[in-house]
Amino acid sequence: MPDTIAPNLVAAVSEARQWQRMMEMGEFGGFTDPHGHRGSNRACLTHIDRKSRRLLIAWAEQAGLAVSVDRLGNLFLRHDGSDPTLAPVLTGSHLDSQPNGGRFDGIWGVIAGLEALQALREAGISTKRPIEVVAWTNEEGGRYAPGCMGSMAYAGYRPADTWDAITDKDGIAFGEALAEHLASESDLTRRGLGVVEGQAPCAYIEAHIEQGPTLESKDADIGVVTGIQGSRWFLVEITGKSDHAGTTPLSLRKDAVQDMLRAITALNTLMHDPTDTLRFTVASIEVLPNTSNSVAGTARFTIDLRHPDSAVLQPRGNAIEGVVQAALRNCTFQVTERFNAVPSIFAPLGTDAVECAGRAQGLRALRLPSGAFHDAQFMHPLCPTGMIFVPCRGGVSHHPSEYSEPAELAAGARVLAQVLAELANH
Ligand code: GLV
Ligand code: MN
Ligand code: MN
Repeated sequence: MPDTIAPNLVAAVSEARQWQRMMEMGEFGGFTDPHGHRGSNRACLTHIDRKSRRLLIAWAEQAGLAVSVDRLGNLFLRHDGSDPTLAPVLTGSHLDSQPNGGRFDGIWGVIAGLEALQALREAGISTKRPIEVVAWTNEEGGRYAPGCMGSMAYAGYRPADTWDAITDKDGIAFGEALAEHLASESDLTRRGLGVVEGQAPCAYIEAHIEQGPTLESKDADIGVVTGIQGSRWFLVEITGKSDHAGTTPLSLRKDAVQDMLRAITALNTLMHDPTDTLRFTVASIEVLPNTSNSVAGTARFTIDLRHPDSAVLQPRGNAIEGVVQAALRNCTFQVTERFNAVPSIFAPLGTDAVECAGRAQGLRALRLPSGAFHDAQFMHPLCPTGMIFVPCRGGVSHHPSEYSEPAELAAGARVLAQVLAELANH
């Protein structure tokens, strides 16, 4: 990839327009936490999600982009190339947030894609290949677990109906929410679903805030993402028997909470890693009947397990069931795996394009792996893939205090614009 820079393209990226859009989008599901931080709670396939998509569509149409949606609800904004027979360069990220989320995770990658395409058009730069911005459905997995459903289906990694029966906390099935959502977007052009229906991209570049402290602490402007560590999600359900808390002797109890504590303690031992590379998190716990004076009959907890090396991730994940079984005293249990994203290392075409563009623009670029998962993980087997990270304050993410400066986001969008222009003429 040449170390070139198109000054008119870079100049056409508008820091003010991008920031204004970020702030407007952040208000869909916007809330202020008790510490005064402004966050977003924008669950996928809700009416709030739909409102944010309508605004995005309006901006895209004003910019002259063609809008379409596939049967998973993945939304595409297309800039045509001079040769319509060529596969597009794809960029984007997601609009959904964590329930207690920030205003930058995901949404910036979509807004930055739009900003890059608008800059390209305003600078009068034409490309051989089309370029498309995608907003993937349900990256976060906050309403429906797992995350990355839209990109997994697009990539053919899982069949499109895999998650139809999964319910949210109100008992609404994913398939039902998706059908309602698609009905609300029946005015949009419908397109085929990803590689399974003839829509393979030639490259994928995702812009995202870092969600960690490395760029800020090393005083770098741009992260050149080298790959993404693997993630596995499990749901553990422990079944005992609910009884009176005042009258039932310990010898007769089947206490699901006590057995859950034994299981989590044993899992902490299994997951111990003196190098602090492995990430093991239990963060969602549900207890039934959840009253203080009844012994718990059911306890459910989630496991989020991550490691960059499959040789560690797979055996540790596979050992969970046996370790839980050995730890329980008098309850039964079930372990269900809900997500398995293998570690990825990005090919040089994507990483080098990001690094060269960053350098050409006089930015300090740093190579680093991603600890968070992203839709890019599922594009990587399909085509050369890269990610552009920008710093975020204190490395904080999945929290209302998540923040990146307007200038940091603008620098990222300029790099994205150059990378897209180069890849679309490649
Ligand atoms: C993505 O949101 C992740 O949890 O890494
Ligand atoms: Mn994200
Ligand atoms: Mn996230």
